[in-house]
Amino acid sequence: MKKVKALQAAMVACGLALTGAVFADGHGGPSAEALSYSCAGCHGTNGLSSGPASPTLAGMPKSVMIETMQGFKSGDIPATIMGRIAKGYTDAEIEKMGDFFAKQKFMSAQQSSDAMLAKKGAKLHDKYCEKCHSEGGSIEMAVEDEVGVLAGQWKPYLHYSLNDFVSGKRPMPKKMKKKLETMHKKEGDAGIQALLEFYAGK
Ligand code: HEC
Ligand code: HEC
Repeated sequence: MKKVKALQAAMVACGLALTGAVFADGHGGPSAEALSYSCAGCHGTNGLSSGPASPTLAGMPKSVMIETMQGFKSGDIPATIMGRIAKGYTDAEIEKMGDFFAKQKFMSAQQSSDAMLAKKGAKLHDKYCEKCHSEGGSIEMAVEDEVGVLAGQWKPYLHYSLNDFVSGKRPMPKKMKKKLETMHKKEGDAGIQALLEFYAGK
């Protein structure tokens, strides 16, 4: 029962009303769906975030969800809030949420994109990022490549992420580091901005 109480508290904290949903999954502990309700206040219903600083989680590959949540837990991935939230969940619970969000349908965030900059961003993406974030960082390929989705993700969230990578606050794969740093050296923050406009327009 303790867990249910904690969950209720988390939901109240998110401004959600508890509506008597079913919390047990028959194997002990709350169901994947019930666990994921507590994320909805910030990440939107079924993981489709409507707030630009909280990323969309719908469709996120399970492996990426697990890695990211573990990174938040250990402090390897810098966070304003997820460090505290992630620490509240066991590995088994994170797995369940990973299954849940992977099954939800991704939709591109509704946001503006500067067409001129996006054109430049497309070129930069092809040169530096496409190898691992294929098809312009699309959700379909993110699932196949087991990377985070870039196309249609919220621009402000991606901006924070890229700044954390560039400044060295957040670790990244070695090869990505090389490419991102080379891009940033050559193009500066304008290069980052162009990439962001490209992903926002997809
Ligand atoms: C109070 C708001 C809030 C709640 C509740 C919340 N998140 Fe987050 N989440 C954020 C923010 C903001 C970020 C960006 C990182 C940061 O600054 O903490 C984020 C980032 C993430 C990311 C990284 C996504 C990516 O593309 O790399 C994952 C995964 C995530 N959250 C999972 C969850 C899960 C699972 C829950 C529910 C157990 C949850 N979050 C609850 C606000 C929230
Ligand atoms: C060698 C492969 C590789 C290259 C090249 C690469 N990435 Fe990545 N990227 C990854 C992997 C793997 C992850 C997931 C692991 C992680 O987050 O550390 C990732 C994660 C990310 C994330 C985090 C997504 C999230 O939801 O928080 C962003 C943003 C990103 N990459 C942007 C870029 C950009 C922009 C470029 C080009 C300048 C690039 N990457 C080049 C492999 C690569």
